Amino acid sequence: MTVATTPAVARSRSDLDALVAPRRGRGPVVFVPTMGALHEGHATLLRIARERAGAEGTVVLSIFVNPLQFGAGEDLDRYPRTFDADLDMAGQEGVDVVFAPVVAEMYPDGVPHEGVASEAVTVQPGPLADRFEGASRPGHFRGVLTVVAKLFGLVRPDVAVFGEKDYQQLALIRRMVADLCLGIEIVGGATDREPDGLARSSRNRYLDAEQRQVAAVLSRALRAGQDRAEYGVPAARWAAMGVLKAEPGIELDYLALTTTGLGELPDYPESGTEGRILVAARVGTTRLIDNMPLHF
Ligand code: PAF
Repeated sequence: MTVATTPAVARSRSDLDALVAPRRGRGPVVFVPTMGALHEGHATLLRIARERAGAEGTVVLSIFVNPLQFGAGEDLDRYPRTFDADLDMAGQEGVDVVFAPVVAEMYPDGVPHEGVASEAVTVQPGPLADRFEGASRPGHFRGVLTVVAKLFGLVRPDVAVFGEKDYQQLALIRRMVADLCLGIEIVGGATDREPDGLARSSRNRYLDAEQRQVAAVLSRALRAGQDRAEYGVPAARWAAMGVLKAEPGIELDYLALTTTGLGELPDYPESGTEGRILVAARVGTTRLIDNMPLHF
C-alpha cells in the first residue's frame, strides 16, 4: 500500500531538474504525462508507474494543458483545471514530483500553431496521424508528439506510462520513440471504466445527466462488436453499428475495426488474430472516444 505524501511541485524546467537530478541512479524514473483533471483512470496509470519505479525509483507526473494539440474551436479554454484535487491524487498514489509548467515555460517563443509564422521545430507525425482522430482534428497529433517529445527531453524518463483509451496517441508515441531512437520504454495502461462501461475521461464532466446515460452506448457498441468478432469483420461492424444507430443522442464520427497497429484488416482474419475496434462520437457538444481489443 502506498502511503500518501505531498509531492514536490516544479513549475520551471530548472526546478524540475533540481528535484529529479539527485534521484537519478537510485532507480528508474517513471513518467506519467497528463493534462490534469485527474480521475480514476489516471490513478491506475500512476499505480503502474509507482510499481515500475519501485521504492527507490522516482515517479514524475506532468500536468500541462498543451495548447498546441487543440484546434480552433476546440475546448482549450474550458478544459477542466483542477490542480488542488490533482495534487491530492498525486499524493495518494505516491508521486514524487509533479511538473506543472505554465505555457511560456514549455513554449518560450510562443505556441507554434499551424499557419502562424514560427521558427520552432515541431514533431511531424507519419501518415498514421491523418486517420481516425487525426482526420477530425488536423494538427492534433503534431501537437501531442511535440509536447511529449519536449516533456521527454525535460524529464528524461526510463519508462513512460500512457492510457490505452487514447489508443492512436499511444501507437504514435510508440512509433515516435522507436523512429527517433529515444530509448524510453512505453507502457500502456488498460482503460478504466465506470460501472456502466463508459471509459473514464476528463471530458466526461462536460456531460449532463441525460448525456451521461447516452454516452454509455459507446462501450456497449464496442462490446457488441467484440462479441461478434469470431464471425469476421463485417459481422462485428454490423453488430456495433446496430447498437450505435439505435441511439439518436449521438453523432457518430467513426467506427473502425483495425489491426492492433491501426492498419487495414481483411474481412475474415485468421483465427487467433488480434485487432482493435475504435469509436468516436459527439454527445451534445462533447466529443468522446473509446476502443477495445478484438479477438478473431
Ligand atoms: O493524453 C493526454 O493527456 C495528452 O495528450 C498528453 C499525452 C499529456 C500530451 O499533452
